[in-house]
Amino acid sequence: MPPSFQYECLATDGAARLGRLATAHGAIDTPAFMPVGTAATVKAMQPESVAATGAQILLGNTYHLMLRPGAERIEQLGGLHRFMNWPGPILTDSGGFQVMSLAKLRKLDADGVTFQSHHDGSSHRLTPERSMRIQHCLDADITMAFDECTPFPATPAQAADSMRLSMRWAARSKAAFVPRPGYGLFGIVQGGIYPDLRAESAEALQRIGFDGYAVGGLAVGEGQEAMFATLDVTVPLLPADRPRYLMGVGRPSDIIGAVCRGIDMFDCVMPTRSGRTAQAFTRRGTVNLRNARHQDDPRPLEEGCACPACRQYSRAYLHHLIRCEEILGAMLLTWHNLQHYQDLMRDLRAAIGAGRLQAFAAEAAATEALGDI
Ligand code: GUN
Ligand code: ZN
Repeated sequence: MPPSFQYECLATDGAARLGRLATAHGAIDTPAFMPVGTAATVKAMQPESVAATGAQILLGNTYHLMLRPGAERIEQLGGLHRFMNWPGPILTDSGGFQVMSLAKLRKLDADGVTFQSHHDGSSHRLTPERSMRIQHCLDADITMAFDECTPFPATPAQAADSMRLSMRWAARSKAAFVPRPGYGLFGIVQGGIYPDLRAESAEALQRIGFDGYAVGGLAVGEGQEAMFATLDVTVPLLPADRPRYLMGVGRPSDIIGAVCRGIDMFDCVMPTRSGRTAQAFTRRGTVNLRNARHQDDPRPLEEGCACPACRQYSRAYLHHLIRCEEILGAMLLTWHNLQHYQDLMRDLRAAIGAGRLQAFAAEAAATEALGDI
């Protein structure tokens, strides 16, 4: 019997939850951070190295994979897990968000969106039905409903129209999704920064019924205070027996604040992208390894970190690799940053389990404020 798609809450601490999500390709301990594997690879990392950091689930992208190498091709080759050699769970985003941020000549209508590839200008179309089909071809453990990420800023009328379009698409996504044991479909709450629209969206999605609920349309320029305020009015309206996913977030302080408000899952390009641009995350905040102050420093990037960048190399060497634009520099910093994020999630889970999340959050903020030494 394949495992059923099931969320179990093991402990709570205030609004925060310690949990476990079972999927067809394995279980995920929550709160969880999903490294981004846009083009069927977590850039600069082998999958076994990603797993070694503690990551249990990756994010893949409908938009990128439908263009290259094509969803049907991946299906023919045995699905995304086999294609990229990641045997664990995979969540795929549904494509609309990436069309709006990457594609050329986008044309949105009530039925879907037509766009030109950012690679070669070729014309393509995504609808809720096509997005569900592509995510099925990819064999995603978690499929995301097809939505529009409402841009920021948006007037209440613009945010309402956009959210209601996403809710109609959510219903079509549910109708087109092919249920299988161990596989789940998540709805995405929209509504901008407007509490009444967020409430309408959360209710509309629950009427349709999903296996999990994402909060979308955040981290798009509204700032941390408005994002937290939106979570404060949205998360309590979501069902307690389903996982909750905050899309595209974020910095460590964003993740800590969102976990305190009841979010269970996150994804963000920040650790991987920053790793390729010389920025490292440490408990004392971010460090730019390109800075000349590291050139004679024999110390590890972060004392006590278990990643190879910290165990085997000095800050001076990492600085040298980056100055020379050596590929190994991007690889080592990506590994370190993913390790930092997974260590943070492990510490958050331990803090929730021990009922000391508030103290952990306060200490993390105080340590980050000290700055690098
Ligand atoms: N990634 C970040 N934000 C969003 C969103 O609102 N919708 C989708 N589909 N993906 C996202
Ligand atoms: Zn490290």
